[in-house]
Amino acid sequence: MSLARFLDLADFSREEVLDLLALADRLQQHPEPKALAGRILGLVFLNPSLRTLASFQAGMARLGGNSFVITPGQGTWALETRLGVAMDGGAAEHIREGLPVLASYCDALGIRAFAEGKNLDADVSDAGFKAMATLIDKPLINLESAINHPCQALADWKTLDDLAVAPRSKFVLQWVPHPRALPLAVPAAALHMAALRGHDVVVARPEGYALPAAVMDKARAAAALSGGSVTETDDRATALAGAQVLYAKEWGSTTHYGDADGDARLRADLGHWQVTGRTFEDAAASCHLMHCLPVRRNVAVAEEVLDGPRSVVLHEAHNRLVVQMAVLHRLLA
Ligand code: CP
Repeated sequence: MSLARFLDLADFSREEVLDLLALADRLQQHPEPKALAGRILGLVFLNPSLRTLASFQAGMARLGGNSFVITPGQGTWALETRLGVAMDGGAAEHIREGLPVLASYCDALGIRAFAEGKNLDADVSDAGFKAMATLIDKPLINLESAINHPCQALADWKTLDDLAVAPRSKFVLQWVPHPRALPLAVPAAALHMAALRGHDVVVARPEGYALPAAVMDKARAAAALSGGSVTETDDRATALAGAQVLYAKEWGSTTHYGDADGDARLRADLGHWQVTGRTFEDAAASCHLMHCLPVRRNVAVAEEVLDGPRSVVLHEAHNRLVVQMAVLHRLLA
């Protein structure tokens, strides 16, 4: 299997995902330091990153290739993303010129472009990222868009494989607190991944934080293919009963989307959704704590849990490097 683009895990069959994971395992055991010699990856970060930025650069280097990083407005021209505006503000260059120019310098391009967080339908449809994708005539990687983070999802799948978590076991995606509304990309990607892996997935979230119907429907379609299931509840303790995985994630209210004050009022009383040692009394004794990082200690997840034996967050983060090397190999080798 060769890849043209890596934008959404849902673009691939279960067998194709397993094939990518097998390649990741192979490269982990038998490194290929010259596989991408002479190849160049361009990385455009319209939003901040630690893991994605460092792991893609490290992955290209480990495969013998090179990379360049553009963070618009920080040493390079700020990029305008809107169409139809008079560019008389801070942005000197438009993505309609900037992205094709960058693509012409490399063999594959990765783009990170978070949700605008104003219009739920626009963000759920990934309209902004899809518009950027039309400007690129090279292999393209989604480094996190408004509604997707396929690299994180693939790394999370590998982590579950590494830990021998049975596909039909209970996987709880739980909303956790954060000082402000965060995008839906990671919860949507994690939910779809767990459903496609065959888990019985429960989304545990307070009222006002239900995931959009399109996100739930996509996960249910994946579950139908794999024999898993997808349900949701606001009863966290019941959700966690017997759980083998607790995937903690922050996201913004979908009933107050784009309304920072309304969201803030809603989350003001939700501090008790933090994952603590007590939380695990409801879960299976062997339950793992997953989180994509970065995580706010003692806000989203208690320190005792992050530093404890149930936490696999560092394992997940390391697997970003491992699975992305497989993606790069498929795109460029
Ligand atoms: N999980 C993740 O994508 O991390 P960064 O935002 O640091 O890249």
